[in-house]
Amino acid sequence: MIKVTPSGQSCGAQVTGVDLTQPLSDDIVAAIRSTWLEHHVLSFPDQAMTDDDLERFTSYFGDFGHDPFFDPIEGRKNIAAIRRDADEKSPLFAENWHTDWSFQAHPPAGTCLFGITIPPVGGDTLFANQHAALDAMPDEMRAQYGGLIAIHSAGLAYAPDGAYGEKDEGRSMAIRPDESARETQTHPLVREHPETGRLGLFSCMGYIMGFEGMAQEDALPLLQQLYAWQSRDEFIYRHQWQSDMLVMWDNRSLLHCATGGYDGHDRLLHRTTIAAHQP
Ligand code: SIN
Repeated sequence: MIKVTPSGQSCGAQVTGVDLTQPLSDDIVAAIRSTWLEHHVLSFPDQAMTDDDLERFTSYFGDFGHDPFFDPIEGRKNIAAIRRDADEKSPLFAENWHTDWSFQAHPPAGTCLFGITIPPVGGDTLFANQHAALDAMPDEMRAQYGGLIAIHSAGLAYAPDGAYGEKDEGRSMAIRPDESARETQTHPLVREHPETGRLGLFSCMGYIMGFEGMAQEDALPLLQQLYAWQSRDEFIYRHQWQSDMLVMWDNRSLLHCATGGYDGHDRLLHRTTIAAHQP
């Protein structure tokens, strides 16, 4: 059976005792799923996985999610490269708290990321537990957010005038900005996790642009206050990468954020998303 070593931080566990380069039994998949739901982000070290292995592993947990605004890697429909070259000068990709594609009608349940080229320093990924963030919120603050319907959009990032838009030069990642990024989608800010039923905060400022029925000048300070709360140290797990390490995280219970500190070194990971859970 799998061996699970919790990080000792707000979320995260390392899983060993399983070979992800081989097909997995239903029992092992069920054990990984329940461990994932408990710890929210799992890392599997020493897995020399191919892209076929990554796709097979992902498909145990649901259909592939739809990745807008990225070209997939050559020859694959469902794998994107998270890449930064040693001499790249463009701002880091995803160095802000977010949950993947929260602006979609059915955002991906999870994301799998496989480390191929990992720099010797820096490049950690931070994860913030949004059940813990909600649970610890003082009553007065919680009353400000309960019942709010958040308006999500990818515009600030992926519209032609967004952070990864037409002025973003010299980036090695295959990001494809598009006008469709301005479309909006609503989700309750406080919502039940679809599999565990546990309440948590879903997504944050960046993809959340405002709240239904609230003026922008009122929404903005609330979003800023919320962002600061959601990313407090006590909710964070800092993940350090190794090559041949697979990480899977739950977008329904976490925010995540890339970090730098590896200028002069290449970094390359392959990524898939797991579509929203269909009970
Ligand atoms: C991501 O947000 O998908 C990328 C995270 C990272 O590069 O550490």
